[in-house]
Amino acid sequence: MSIYILGIESSCDDTSAAIIKDRKILANLTANQHIHKEFGGVVPELASRAHQQNIIPVIESAFSAAKITKNQINAVAYTNGPGLLGSLLVGTSFAKAFALALNVPLITINHMHAHILALFIEDEAHKAAPPFPFLCLTVSGGHTQIMLVKSHYEMEVIGKTIDDAAGEAFDKAAKIMGLTYPGGPMIDKLAREGDPERFHFPHPKVPGLDYSFSGLKTSFLYFLRDQLKNDTEFVSNHKADLAASIQHTIIEILLKKLKQASEKTGIRHIAMAGGVSANSGLRRAFIQEQDAGRWQVYIPRFEYCTDNAAMIAINGYYKYLKKDFSPQSLKPFTRYTDQ
Ligand code: KG4
Ligand code: ZN
Repeated sequence: MSIYILGIESSCDDTSAAIIKDRKILANLTANQHIHKEFGGVVPELASRAHQQNIIPVIESAFSAAKITKNQINAVAYTNGPGLLGSLLVGTSFAKAFALALNVPLITINHMHAHILALFIEDEAHKAAPPFPFLCLTVSGGHTQIMLVKSHYEMEVIGKTIDDAAGEAFDKAAKIMGLTYPGGPMIDKLAREGDPERFHFPHPKVPGLDYSFSGLKTSFLYFLRDQLKNDTEFVSNHKADLAASIQHTIIEILLKKLKQASEKTGIRHIAMAGGVSANSGLRRAFIQEQDAGRWQVYIPRFEYCTDNAAMIAINGYYKYLKKDFSPQSLKPFTRYTDQ
């Protein structure tokens, strides 16, 4: 018999609901919160209010799109961290009430693990899921991790950022250039027209497999400040080259530690996940490694890169198989833990 799971994601500024039938997505709908654009970043209080407005319509639309009734659901899976507390609480409260009303199990999902498990969604276009163990570069707005993935249930962080995340580096560089939030997709678009070797920025010196991106942001800021003294139109005159150069530097930094991780562990099955995995330059860099015969790479479908509930639903499916259910009393958490 098939298993139907409702997945709910509300950890940051996207309210998303998805319905999965075994490993196949029947519906995956997201209400984006455009309200944050004018503030240059996510405003937590506005995010939780928008989640409250969006959650019921998004869930109703997911059921209509999936063409199933609420009574067919076997379990409700929801993100309980990491994320913004006010945002998480909206999804949590809804999920708990819904599961209680339907008398079905409740499943808590770790947002960062869900990004990775999105690679296991069954999809005609994307058949190959990575074999275990594999390494996953998990890059989002709040996290940058090299994850050693041992099974659907066991993941170990072997490298992480000690300050800013890669997505933050994109967003902050974009903000310095006067682009709107979220800056990652804007930089990606501009970079296509630019020269990645036009400007050079220093790489951080961090031991082991860890990352750092805060120094890059500062050197980008100081570089532009100096250039603007001589040419007040410097940013608008060099938009594409600036975007291409900063993107190129971020990708080089990401790849360097990932290569070290691959050498250290001997693992050549390498995946990527999280919002920054939507970046066309990063995707290209992965494919180049594969073409050179060094790695076998696994890249999620574009719509499963940035925050979505399909990834919550697939993770819910695997936890359902293990009967890994959660009590109503569980509270959401804001910072990453491996639970
Ligand atoms: O995973 P995600 O949707 O949310 C978090 O869990 O944080 O990641 C959002 C991040 C933002 O920093 C955004 O700028 C970045 O992913 N991002 C991109 C691209 N699309 C989204 N960064 C670079 N290039 C992109 N195409
Ligand atoms: Zn995310």
